[in-house]
Amino acid sequence: MAQIIDGKKIAADIRNELKEETARLAAEGKEAALAVILVGENPASKVYVRNKKNACEEVGIKSLSYELPENTSQAELLELIDKLNHDDKCNGILVQLPLPKHIDEDAVINAIDPDKDVDGFHPVNVGKLSIGLEGFVSCTPSGIIQLLKRSGVEMDGKRAVVIGRSNIVGKPMALLLLRENATVTVAHSHTNELKELCRQADILIVAIGRAKFVDHEYIKDGAVVIDVGMDRDENGKLCGDVDYDDVFDKASFITPVPGGVGPMTIAMLLYNCVASAKDQSR
Ligand code: GUN
Repeated sequence: MAQIIDGKKIAADIRNELKEETARLAAEGKEAALAVILVGENPASKVYVRNKKNACEEVGIKSLSYELPENTSQAELLELIDKLNHDDKCNGILVQLPLPKHIDEDAVINAIDPDKDVDGFHPVNVGKLSIGLEGFVSCTPSGIIQLLKRSGVEMDGKRAVVIGRSNIVGKPMALLLLRENATVTVAHSHTNELKELCRQADILIVAIGRAKFVDHEYIKDGAVVIDVGMDRDENGKLCGDVDYDDVFDKASFITPVPGGVGPMTIAMLLYNCVASAKDQSR
């Protein structure tokens, strides 16, 4: 029977630690401030942005809100980013994705000062992660490392399989596990004999976006199972990429959906914002 990794609790612990940090910074007259830019009316993005702004306020990070109309030009958005790059009062810049189709996301991510790139999406930060230098790291995979560490899961020497190779989750996840001395394999939709491969994993990270795709046949006895999915089952109920009930008795640790990986993404965004404020106030 698996031990449940409570992401809600661990994220709350991190937020409390950050609240103490921002209070310490405030006592020195320093303030952490995150610029949150939303372009257009994507309903899911609106919810994410609201949650991010609320979480900032809760831990004492000022949020600077920019809600721009759908027809904002790329040049206008780049101009705003340039202004924020040079604004000493702003130490983090987040442009909510996806952007409207007429805007080139790569151009926008490239325009953000890497020292304010609290999403960890800028190629400079991705490059730093890949060669082991300090920099901002994408929030979902760094949140997963925190879940594992704070649950006492040993990564050193273990076999980890990551299913999914996205720039935001799969690839940085693999690099972070490697940094923890795990032996890492990245699997994806073209991987042959996926089940057999997953059955070798001491730590299995699932980020494929297919409801309940991974069942007990993919799991080694005693494996640690981390579910990054946010899907809907046949009844429209929120579920993950892992068939939780089917896997539960075989795993040693498992993250639920909701309440596992999800809450960690915002917690690590806040962590990056506070880290940025500390760096810029040296
Ligand atoms: N859209 C979905 N997830 C994210 C995220 O982590 N950061 C940003 N900027 N946009 C997103």
